[in-house]
Amino acid sequence: MAETLFEELKRYVGFDEGDAQALVALHALAKPHFPRIARVFYDRILEHEGARQALAGGESQVGHLRGTLEAWMGQLLHGPWDEDYYDLRCRIGRMHVRISLPQHYMFGAMNILRQELNAVIDAAWLDQPEMLRATRVALGKILDLELAIMLHTYREDLLAQQARSERLSTFGQLVGSIGHELRNPLGVIETSLYILRGRSAAVDERTSKHLDRIGEQVGIANRIVSDLLDMIRDRPLQRQEVWLDEVWQEALKAVHRPESVTVSAEGLPSLPPVQGDAGQLRQVFVNLLENAVQALEESGGTVSLSATTPQPGVAELVLEDSGPGVSDAIRRRLFEPLMTTKARGIGLGLPLVRRILERHGGSIVYAPRPGAGARFVLRLPLMPAEDAHASVPSAG
Ligand code: HEM
Repeated sequence: MAETLFEELKRYVGFDEGDAQALVALHALAKPHFPRIARVFYDRILEHEGARQALAGGESQVGHLRGTLEAWMGQLLHGPWDEDYYDLRCRIGRMHVRISLPQHYMFGAMNILRQELNAVIDAAWLDQPEMLRATRVALGKILDLELAIMLHTYREDLLAQQARSERLSTFGQLVGSIGHELRNPLGVIETSLYILRGRSAAVDERTSKHLDRIGEQVGIANRIVSDLLDMIRDRPLQRQEVWLDEVWQEALKAVHRPESVTVSAEGLPSLPPVQGDAGQLRQVFVNLLENAVQALEESGGTVSLSATTPQPGVAELVLEDSGPGVSDAIRRRLFEPLMTTKARGIGLGLPLVRRILERHGGSIVYAPRPGAGARFVLRLPLMPAEDAHASVPSAG
């Protein structure tokens, strides 16, 4: 069977049975120190103004993370260092990628663990230099493996981004030319329709109804072409001070929704402004709202938005709906162009949303809503307080 990446990494650092035995022996000695080491680890992160920003959940999150780090150290020293171990480590790595934790913090953090565990080794085997050396070597290897896995998850994320932009660029060239080609015939249909409508006195009611229908469909086709062209054009951002509450109110006006769908929002008026393109940010809300409303059109339900600043300088918006949510199979491709489950639309709404947010230095992820329903978590950098105009947004 082909060697897995983890096996290859172990072979590369020379991790063998002797190392495994040394680590298991160390585990028994180090276990009582885990709570203290976990405290030192997060105290050090909290002391650093940049690293601290990642611990958005404050004291309660740190309490939880200390517990998970103790479990992490347990597995680190006790194994088994098998494919499940590797998968779990990749999942933890992806958590750090998801919260956009800069990878350089990993080296310092790993070094704290190295120093603390080495201190345990030194104290235990001061008079047994062979044992001391073997255990230090084994610890060095396993921590190197951990770093390698963490960096691998960052690389995975980078490659996925690259692949996405390559796909977009091929897709862009194609749709760019089709889009432009379609503009002309659509323009001709619109003009002829206008002329025919001018003569509507001469046509009967049914003909007039069909003319309206043609008009509606031309409108839809034009919108698809515009979305396609927006997708590839990278219109420069018209940056200005933007209050997200105002943008949300504008989007609400633009999205038609049946009475059975209720929309609520909280926290937006107290958000500081962002430096962004109001029109494009409005598009973000319109696309997300349209999706949510369409998911609820038949059954009715609720759409709710809640806005917070989980860490200084960052706005987090959570948009939830009580619809059916998104299946696991589709989730992975949710933000890819042309991915759609709807009878209407061609799957450009969410890619466009992501594109706009990324161009604003923000992000969007899908996280299933506990119970049922869709849940999107958006993050956007806020304007530094000193640059923000000292005014409050007008009520929308
Ligand atoms: C050697 C380096 C590190 C190790 C071994 C480590 C370990 C872990 C583990 C085991 C989890 C999973 C928690 C869970 O299951 O809920 C986790 C998540 C997390 N870690 Fe780390 N971590 C490291 C570095 C850092 C650093 C440097 C920071 C911040 C500056 C950090 C911040 C976080 C945060 C915020 C989460 C929660 C993410 C989420 O809930 O989505 N970690 N880490």
